[in-house]
Amino acid sequence: MQTSLPQTPTRFAICRYPTTLIDIWRSPRGEPFVLRPILPQDKPLLQDFYASMSPRSRRLRFHGAVNGLSQSALTTMSEVDPDKHLALVVTFVSEGTETLVADARYVVDETGSGGEFAIAVSDVWQRRGIALRAIAGLCKAAKLQGLDWLWGDVLEDNVAMLALMHRAGFYRSAMTEAGIVRVERSVAQAFSPERARRGGPLVMLGQWLLAGRSYA
Ligand SMILES: CC(C)(COP(=O)(O)OP(=O)(O)OC[C@H]1O[C@@H](n2cnc3c(N)ncnc32)[C@H](O)[C@@H]1OP(=O)(O)O)[C@@H](O)C(=O)NCCC(=O)NCCS
Repeated sequence: MQTSLPQTPTRFAICRYPTTLIDIWRSPRGEPFVLRPILPQDKPLLQDFYASMSPRSRRLRFHGAVNGLSQSALTTMSEVDPDKHLALVVTFVSEGTETLVADARYVVDETGSGGEFAIAVSDVWQRRGIALRAIAGLCKAAKLQGLDWLWGDVLEDNVAMLALMHRAGFYRSAMTEAGIVRVERSVAQAFSPERARRGGPLVMLGQWLLAGRSYA
């Protein structure tokens, strides 16, 4: 998934760190994770994160072959303009070393009421509910910012992302171009990542009724 990031990176000072977006939890295996807004000093962690990702995952995230992030891209992705761009990272600390395991972000679109989002989870940390948690964080942030929608373009062969979207209550919009599925979700209603993960049929039905018309 691509987001339309500004082409010319600008330096932004974070006057007030949005602590309300911090979320701390343990995975079912007991690993401690922190979801938090990105900081400019996260650049090296972000670089390591994308460098360690498999070529397939990078292709699915960026919709094309990407070997690593340029310094300019790293700056744009870690020094964000809070009015237009929200980036959340998931990290965990082991033996005093912090590792970044997920990057989730949206950029406010030209309508001003929607945010184009993208997400990636480190290959070795997938299927632990991290993406669901991060998407819940994005929805919360978008609502706090006064947006109505989050939307994104998913490669048609990205089975994992489409399954995740289904779980998170997104619905299919129109095919914007061949090979792409556009997914959308209202952010008016929050969703619980734990309940979505346990997800029995009633939870799925409830999410469908709250969030949209048809599953992604
Ligand atoms: C798609 C992606 C973000 C999912 O992250 P994740 O942390 O593994 O997702 P979660 O653990 O929160 O999964 C939640 C649910 O989504 C669905 N899901 C996630 N990965 C899946 C997979 N590989 N196959 C089938 N369903 C999957 C499942 O319903 C899952 O719940 P379950 O584990 O209880 O069955 C991750 O695979 C990824 O980063 N892929 C590469 C980059 C990418 O495709 N980004 C999206 C750009 S459009």
